[in-house]
Amino acid sequence: MKKRWFIMLLLSATTLLTASDTGAQLSEEKCTSCHMTSSSSAKLKDGKMHAPPMWGVMKKVKNRFKTKEEGIAFITDYTMNPSAEKMIFPEATKEYFGLMPSMRETVTDEEMKIIAEYLYR
Ligand code: HEC
Repeated sequence: MKKRWFIMLLLSATTLLTASDTGAQLSEEKCTSCHMTSSSSAKLKDGKMHAPPMWGVMKKVKNRFKTKEEGIAFITDYTMNPSAEKMIFPEATKEYFGLMPSMRETVTDEEMKIIAEYLYR
């Protein structure tokens, strides 16, 4: 009986881990080639940075929108249909990095949900 509880605990722990793992993994695969997860001025100077770092993006999003729902809706919409009018970042960001290309070809709606939830954690 005890053994069974232990196995159930193990199983639920694995399920939880998998959920956040997937978010981390997906954003790593789909976003961090451009949006670094940490900041590095050396990289910026080298011209190796392709976009604002992800923490910077999330700070902007959280400042702009009051609720998680609105924030997630924005990230989802922007990632699939980026446009200069929707940008939270200033004009200079676009001039420096260029506008973000749409991720519609590489990210499914289902994946986008997981990524947005993960980024907003
Ligand atoms: C090919 C490079 C590239 C990839 C890959 C990429 N982005 Fe971006 N992203 C950019 C650039 C460049 C900007 C800044 C210019 C802009 O806002 O369009 C940006 C800006 C953003 C913004 C802020 C928009 C604003 O100005 O308000 C969000 C949100 C965002 N990206 C989300 C994502 C997510 C989520 C992913 C992964 C699913 C992702 N991006 C993948 C290049 C990329």
